[in-house]
Amino acid sequence: MQALESMTVLLPWLLVYYLSALTPGDASTCVLQNDFEPGLMANGDFLIGGIFPLHYNQEMPDLNCTYRPGPVKCNGFDPRAFRWALTMKLAVEEINKRNDLLPNYNLGYKIFDSCAYPLTGQRSAVAVLNGPNEQESPMCAGAGPLLAIIGESGSAQSIVVSRILRPFGIPMISYFSSCACLSDRREFPTFFRVIPSDAYQVKAIAKLLLHFNWTWVGVVRGDHEYGRFALQGLLKELEGTGICVAYQEMIPLLYEHQRALEIIRVMSHSTARVVVVFSAEGELTPFLRDYMEQNVTGIQWIASEAWVTASVFTGSEYYPFLGGTIGFGIRQGQIPGLREYLTTVNPESYPSNPLVHELWGALYDCSPSSSSLNNHLPSCTGQETIRVQHSAYFNTSSPRISYNVYKGVYAIAHSLHNLLHCTPGKGPFSNSTCANIHNVYPWQLQQYLQEVSFTISGETVNFDMKGDSIPSYDLINWQRGSAGNIEFVNVGRFDGAQESGQELVIQEKAIMWPGHQTEVLVSVCSNSCTPGFRKAVRRGQPLCCFDCVPCDSGKISNKTDSVECMACSEDYWSNDDGTVCIPKVVEFLSHDAMGLTLTVIAVVGACLTLAVFAVFLYYRNTPVVRINNSELSFFILLSLTLCFLCALVFIGEPTSWSCMLRHTAFSITFSLCISCILGKTLVVLAAFTATRPGNNIMKWLGPTQQRIIIFCCTLVQVVICTTWLTVSPPFPYRNTKYQQSKIILDCSVGSDLAFWCVLGYIGVLACVCFFLAFLARKLPGNFNEAKYITFSMLIFCAVWLAFVPAYVSSPGKFTTAVEIFAILASSFGLLLCLFTPKIYIILLKPEKNTKQHLMGKDK
Ligand code: TRP
Repeated sequence: MQALESMTVLLPWLLVYYLSALTPGDASTCVLQNDFEPGLMANGDFLIGGIFPLHYNQEMPDLNCTYRPGPVKCNGFDPRAFRWALTMKLAVEEINKRNDLLPNYNLGYKIFDSCAYPLTGQRSAVAVLNGPNEQESPMCAGAGPLLAIIGESGSAQSIVVSRILRPFGIPMISYFSSCACLSDRREFPTFFRVIPSDAYQVKAIAKLLLHFNWTWVGVVRGDHEYGRFALQGLLKELEGTGICVAYQEMIPLLYEHQRALEIIRVMSHSTARVVVVFSAEGELTPFLRDYMEQNVTGIQWIASEAWVTASVFTGSEYYPFLGGTIGFGIRQGQIPGLREYLTTVNPESYPSNPLVHELWGALYDCSPSSSSLNNHLPSCTGQETIRVQHSAYFNTSSPRISYNVYKGVYAIAHSLHNLLHCTPGKGPFSNSTCANIHNVYPWQLQQYLQEVSFTISGETVNFDMKGDSIPSYDLINWQRGSAGNIEFVNVGRFDGAQESGQELVIQEKAIMWPGHQTEVLVSVCSNSCTPGFRKAVRRGQPLCCFDCVPCDSGKISNKTDSVECMACSEDYWSNDDGTVCIPKVVEFLSHDAMGLTLTVIAVVGACLTLAVFAVFLYYRNTPVVRINNSELSFFILLSLTLCFLCALVFIGEPTSWSCMLRHTAFSITFSLCISCILGKTLVVLAAFTATRPGNNIMKWLGPTQQRIIIFCCTLVQVVICTTWLTVSPPFPYRNTKYQQSKIILDCSVGSDLAFWCVLGYIGVLACVCFFLAFLARKLPGNFNEAKYITFSMLIFCAVWLAFVPAYVSSPGKFTTAVEIFAILASSFGLLLCLFTPKIYIILLKPEKNTKQHLMGKDK
């Protein structure tokens, strides 16, 4: 990077120098600053340049700038890139032989090495522009025949080269630079490429991640424009897809073992098992070596197009670690005769070309002649076998980048052909002129390149307004080959020309996963939430990391990974799992255990009362029955029976009828009952007071008056009830508030005032009765009923006093149960207190059933 920066400082000076060199006729100002020999060259009527990274890396140049830097020293010959260069040579030769394309003209070429390094790329770009010496330099003699450049490989180099070429208007066609940044026509107006922009690749990768549900991924990239822009694009593409990036790591430009170990540690410790790598062989080779040393496995690699078809990684030692890798590769094509052409390139046919010698050194690990550069290698015997890592050199069954080079050369040839065959007066330049074919300027060719469209092995080649080509990728999977090595198998494709949703086609069955797994690897931060749960994002962590919390009761979630739980509608409630809304349970006092018990008690009570009634009827002539107004006793018994029975109205589903009946029936029968008891108390009181002289109160309390009193007392209650029923009668209602999970079917009293009036009235009657009976309790007589009435009223009042708080506080159907209980308890209280003593005497002590005894006069 530092080198790049210093170059940008130097750049204006270089440009000034070369721009001044453009001025025709002033050849004396042209001085070659340094010589840089082309790797391969051939002269022709029109020259095209080629820049290829024929070496992996170079020795860092001395940048102190106090003396002229020495020639570039590059290391690590790359047969793959050399094949690309040879493909360019092949294409040019092929075109020169053709009669239909550029007849009568010869294309020439100059191929330079960039050493996969931007600075050297820049040097080669400048060298391409120059001739080998000042005299032959085309740049010193006006418009030269150099028309276009095929190059470069890495985007970082292409950016530099394109900036150099820009002032000269020389178009370049890149075969491998995919950085989306190069689509900027303002910055790179002369840049074209036959490789899709990474804008499509990141789209394809995002689709792939989504397809396999890999929502938690790591990204590793190299320190260059390609890596930077690809990561940026991927992050943008992942926005809103639910995929999160667990970590982003950068392999430093100058490889550092320590830093690599740190990255590998992050990778192996992260829960993200899927790693997307935007990088190229250059930095990946040492990185993967370190990775394998650490013995980390179980990672699903997603390779970018830069390394997904890199033959350096096909060795069997890579298989356990990299098998199953998947990624989008450049579409392959057919180059007829490439293989045969490559075999003709050998040290015998190119005795003086150092590159061919280096190729031999790289392929066979031997040096073809002792005088060559690789003199530390043993001399070739002709028996050597090709080295494994470069065995793919001759495998030209599926050329990808070579095919891009081939297409690029053809694009130039076709444009040039069109330019030369321009019909005068119909040209694209001002006033519809054509280019002067004896002095073609590169910017004129650029015009034609922009418009060119031709087919090659059935594929149409053209450029859009940004200089990009049609996006199309193969999905490539790294599978085990027969020799334990890695083979690149095509398992799908991404076609950016298809409409959205149909771009990606995957043959899932054909994919082989890492570690021979049959299942797709899972790479998520948190497992998805099942229905009944919702996602709760963890603070300070990406959206993909969440906890699953169960839905609150009354709320449900019916799909996996719900963000929120939905509340059930009013009459519905969530089931126990929180997955569906089910109708709420309707609760009322029905004939269940509690209801049945209460029914039985009520019926038993009624029967008991009727039994007492029967006994009284049978013994109606005995003194015990007769002594105290038997008519009133019968009345009391009948009304008590009704009291017991009206408890039954409270049981069962409330309807508007039963609701109205409930309180009214109960209050009227109770008023009747207590009025009778009151009447009886009055009679007792009167009877004893009447014995005193001058008191004829009994006259006023004859049977008729008694009936009138009872009738009047009951009538008051009847009036209250009628008013209640007409003004605001009780009605059944569904109580959904009290208990959220249930609907309580209940009777609303309609008017609270009326309800408490009714109860209050009974209370008042009972209190009056109690008071009078209390007065009469000490009156003489063995069978003084006042005592029992006092007692019964005491019980009655106690029951109803206890009822009030219980009624107000008990929930749901228990309210009703409490009311029934009060009714039954008070009825039993009355029945037992008033009638057991008499029944006892009648049935068990008939000898006491005499008037004397009862009057207490038998002693
Ligand atoms: N598509 C990559 C790019 O545009 C390919 C590439 C070639 C590359 N050489 C490289 C990437 C070197 C990184 C480093 O750059």
